[in-house]
Amino acid sequence: MSKVSVIGIGYVGLVTAVCLADADNKVVCIDKDLNKIEMLRNGNSPIFEPELEELITKNIEKKNLIFKTEIDDESLLSDTIFIAVGTPMIESTGRADLSYVFNVAEELGTRLGSLKGESLKTIVLKSTVPPGTTLKVKKIIESKMNGSINIVFNPEFLREGTAIKDTFYPDRIVFGAESEEPVEKLKTIYKKMVKQENPQFVSASINSAELIKYASNAFLATKISFINEIANLCELIGANVGDVAEGVGLDKRIGKSFLNAGIGYGGSCFPKDTRALDHLAGDHGHVFQLLKAVIDVNNMQKKRFVNKIKKVLDGVEGKRIGVLGLAFKQDTDDVRESIAIDIVDSLAEAGAKVSAHDPLAEKNAKVILSKHKNSIVYCDTPYDAAKKADALIIATEWDSFKKIDLEKIKKSMNKQIIFDGRNMLDAKEAVKLGFDYHSIGGYGN
Ligand code: UDX
Repeated sequence: MSKVSVIGIGYVGLVTAVCLADADNKVVCIDKDLNKIEMLRNGNSPIFEPELEELITKNIEKKNLIFKTEIDDESLLSDTIFIAVGTPMIESTGRADLSYVFNVAEELGTRLGSLKGESLKTIVLKSTVPPGTTLKVKKIIESKMNGSINIVFNPEFLREGTAIKDTFYPDRIVFGAESEEPVEKLKTIYKKMVKQENPQFVSASINSAELIKYASNAFLATKISFINEIANLCELIGANVGDVAEGVGLDKRIGKSFLNAGIGYGGSCFPKDTRALDHLAGDHGHVFQLLKAVIDVNNMQKKRFVNKIKKVLDGVEGKRIGVLGLAFKQDTDDVRESIAIDIVDSLAEAGAKVSAHDPLAEKNAKVILSKHKNSIVYCDTPYDAAKKADALIIATEWDSFKKIDLEKIKKSMNKQIIFDGRNMLDAKEAVKLGFDYHSIGGYGN
């Protein structure tokens, strides 16, 4: 049984810690947020993620998970210490805020310095950071402790909503390191944790591993902006982006995933990481033209959607608009950089009265949209959101929206107009029922 510590219990840190604990490691979780730690000690997850809470409870009972607010002596008993604190976007510059990572490095270095005669620790950085950062972290820790460590950069590729599954069944596990020894140690830990026979490991230099993470997210964002541009073209020439994406995606070299046209990508990673990579390129004198276009297309996509709504409705002032979905994607309560939220914000700003429904994200959305509290009512069901509405918008790709009873919705709406921003509904049925149905990219044509 290995002892492992994880510093920073956000999405990545918590899921990593819980999956490691479930593989029978003793895991010490450290986060400065006392509320979060107390929730966790009581077996409650601070975030919604399928299977997560059950695994937390199970592993607390097995005594494999311990929660702390400080890097104390017990945290330092572990030979392997993961750092998974956030690197949020600095709003004014679009760069990654590395202050949490560097603060942890200083604290950890100072604490390790007090452990004279201990074995060589392996520090594993999981936070998404620009190339060069991992070695800076190593320098900070070593100078504070007045000793040496092994450092490995080990990026995380989990998706919200499928985080546990992604962690147990990863496509690949990437290590960036200066030597083989700490990588071998980590491979042993991972082999025990993942549920695949032969996990795919990639060993690279630290700079390459740091870039692998940004390049992966930027490439996925590129696929989305690409298909959204094809969708915009489909609308002009009378084609159906659903059919085009299928025909294109069946080419194995391209692949079907991440070709769902819509109102753009959001969330805590793609918007932040694309901008950070663009800045990184700029800092090194390179104009990353393609990435700039990906970001611009994404910003335009939601504006196009709102303009379409305003055009069809002949303005939205005083109109009641039902909005289905507030989370940045399905199966999460996360509203960070959610396009659905941006759309509600634009509509409320333009004087619309919004009736919004989301299966999970209402609480988080209310905080972000508090300035529009007089223009938005939150509804328990999609049917309540559609009641007396002049139009209904699908803004998040929740599976449950596919099963909505369109006939029931139709009767309760003031005007039968749908803007399906995620191409979710049965377009043919909607048209047959008499809806004025607007999709993205001629889906349903
Ligand atoms: C992403 C990466 O997929 C993951 O590997 C990384 O670790 C973190 O960032 P996540 O942000 O959880 O994961 O969600 P993801 O499923 O990738 O979706 C991101 C955004 O793209 C969502 O807003 C989603 O609605 C949008 N999207 C996704 C599309 O618009 N079309 C698609 O085809 C796929």
